Amino acid sequence: MQPPAALAIIWARAGALWLGAAASWPPLTPISAERSGGSRPFSGFSRRDFLRGSGAVAAATAIHQQATAAAQEAAGTKVAAGKQTITLNVNGKDHSVQVEPRTTLLEALRTQLDLTGAKPICNDGSSGGATVLEDGKPIQANMRLAMQCVGKKIQTVESLAGDAVPQAFVDCDAQQCGFCTPGFVVAVRAFLNMKPKATEEEIRAGLNGNLCRCGTYANIIHAAVQVVKGGANG
Ligand code: FES
Repeated sequence: MQPPAALAIIWARAGALWLGAAASWPPLTPISAERSGGSRPFSGFSRRDFLRGSGAVAAATAIHQQATAAAQEAAGTKVAAGKQTITLNVNGKDHSVQVEPRTTLLEALRTQLDLTGAKPICNDGSSGGATVLEDGKPIQANMRLAMQCVGKKIQTVESLAGDAVPQAFVDCDAQQCGFCTPGFVVAVRAFLNMKPKATEEEIRAGLNGNLCRCGTYANIIHAAVQVVKGGANG
């Protein structure tokens, strides 16, 4: 059956309009170019500009790095980057450890050498929980970079297993939770090595860099005094 003549005319016109629209799509000129009034994108910044700029930045960075390296060489210093293998002398033995420049001595001791006596109680050395000895002097292992300890002799609380100080802590019941105890044991040993005949007052002053949240100070001081009395120092 044939459609009415009027309907056939409408279909024919609609088809022509659709074909015309399809033929002119997409617009030949990008919208961005129309807005800028030229052939470049609206932002005025082409991919070529970007690549040219990136190359300049890379070149400037390389020149800066070369200049920095030359300045460091002239100053006799070296900046470490990335993971490096270093040797740490801990408790009388050399250990090879892999560290990054940001790795602290405490992290190297605990995670690579499995020496977990020193404790990560604070981030600023205020608790004394990470006290170890470096060439016989007390330091906070969380405040020292592992790379700074190359060539030093590090001593942790684990090396004091047979020492009179931890025994005195046990005898005097000088711990509650025990979290601060390793730091205190090392601090007491370091102080009494320096002052074997220290008085109680001097011991109190000498240990003021270590904190005990449980408040066991009286027994800790008592333990240190017992070590002095027993003459088991140095
Ligand atoms: S015994 Fe608990 S913090 Fe000292």
